[in-house]
Amino acid sequence: MLRVVAEVIGGGRHLAPALDATLGGIAEREVRAFVTDVAYGVVRHVRALEAALAPRLEAPERLPERVRLALLAGAFERLLRGTPPHAAVNSWVEVVKRGPRADRALAGLVNAVLRRIEPDDLPTPLGAACLAPWLLERLTLALGSDLAERAALGMLRPEPLWLSAPDAGAARARLADDGADVADGPIEGSLRVRAPRPLRALAAYREGLVQPQNPASLAVVQACGEVEGVRVLDLCGGHGVKAAALAARGAHVLSVERDEAKLRAAARNAQRLGVAVDALAWDLTTPPPLEPAQVVLLDAPCSGTGTLRGHPEIGLRLTPAAVASLVELQAQLLRTSLACVAPGGRLVYAVCALTPDEGPRQIERLLAEAPTFVAEAPALDLPHVATAGPGAWIVPEDGLDGFYVAALRRDG
Ligand SMILES: C[S@@+](CC[C@H](N)C(=O)[O-])C[C@H]1O[C@@H](n2cnc3c(N)ncnc32)[C@H](O)[C@@H]1O
Repeated sequence: MLRVVAEVIGGGRHLAPALDATLGGIAEREVRAFVTDVAYGVVRHVRALEAALAPRLEAPERLPERVRLALLAGAFERLLRGTPPHAAVNSWVEVVKRGPRADRALAGLVNAVLRRIEPDDLPTPLGAACLAPWLLERLTLALGSDLAERAALGMLRPEPLWLSAPDAGAARARLADDGADVADGPIEGSLRVRAPRPLRALAAYREGLVQPQNPASLAVVQACGEVEGVRVLDLCGGHGVKAAALAARGAHVLSVERDEAKLRAAARNAQRLGVAVDALAWDLTTPPPLEPAQVVLLDAPCSGTGTLRGHPEIGLRLTPAAVASLVELQAQLLRTSLACVAPGGRLVYAVCALTPDEGPRQIERLLAEAPTFVAEAPALDLPHVATAGPGAWIVPEDGLDGFYVAALRRDG
């Protein structure tokens, strides 16, 4: 597990695939859950954990990597996971003792530091302390300081397994056969599930009754409105999660995406789900050769700052320059999208990002360029907050991802 965390924190790997590769070799469910919990916990809280440990270490930057990681994991267990202190301390001291000689020589230090460290050593407020200062500033500009802290704190909590199910009754019955506990999610067609086996081993998944999807992502689909029998362009379709949900609601969906491998994966997934989605490989920085449609969804590439719960490594690597270049790309994709909307039709723009430049500022600029479009309040079935401009924020609390969603209607 320490290797996974090292590859993510220092090596630039994404946490989910790195962890999947490790979990593949672990049979016991409890061990898999523990490894997942601690690996995500350390990566999500690494800034605050480093701050808590720093006063007790003379030169933290000179510690061998495994020792540093064992301290972070031990501190996470001691301060945030609620593991009994002796267990948290002893298990990580043992890990250090099993390492090379230079590590073993530091077992006493690890023991002393993990014994002495206290919850009060964590910086406060905790959510803010886990974000890079520039990112906290953006979140605060977007949401105000109280809500920004709630969002940051919310994204430190583990994510439940959210499944979308167009036929929730059938899905519930099959999930019960699978031995899963099922509760309704916060939006129609969404289920919160505790499953005894990995998702792909569930009959409900294999038989195409369910799709892993955060309720906030499903809310974006619902913001497209009534789509039964309607031609919908799903721009930047990616792996086709929203396209499949639109098709399940009776839309005739054409998914446009520049990455052909993603289109192939989306086609396989649509087949599993038993829905039909057309696909076009196209770079949307130039307009595609398509008839305009009544409903256009642009789920644009973005900073992912609303998904730090599931992708905490984003918060470690993202830079203001990277956000600026995404803002530029989104502006180009938005111009293309406007050209795809038929008269009287609607554009829904969504990003799983919580920075003003990717959200309301982007849409304000666009409206100034395109006077035939007007902003509407997006119809969102989840709790959301108004922005200072057009569109709304879904705040990443209670297991939700954070999103910005705007709806524009073409008048002329
Ligand atoms: C947020 S993801 C879309 C997720 C997808 N809508 C879903 O629900 O599964 C954004 C997608 O935009 C695609 N993309 C980025 N730049 C693009 C471009 N210039 N033209 C077309 N697609 C692009 C990326 O490959 C990525 O799959």
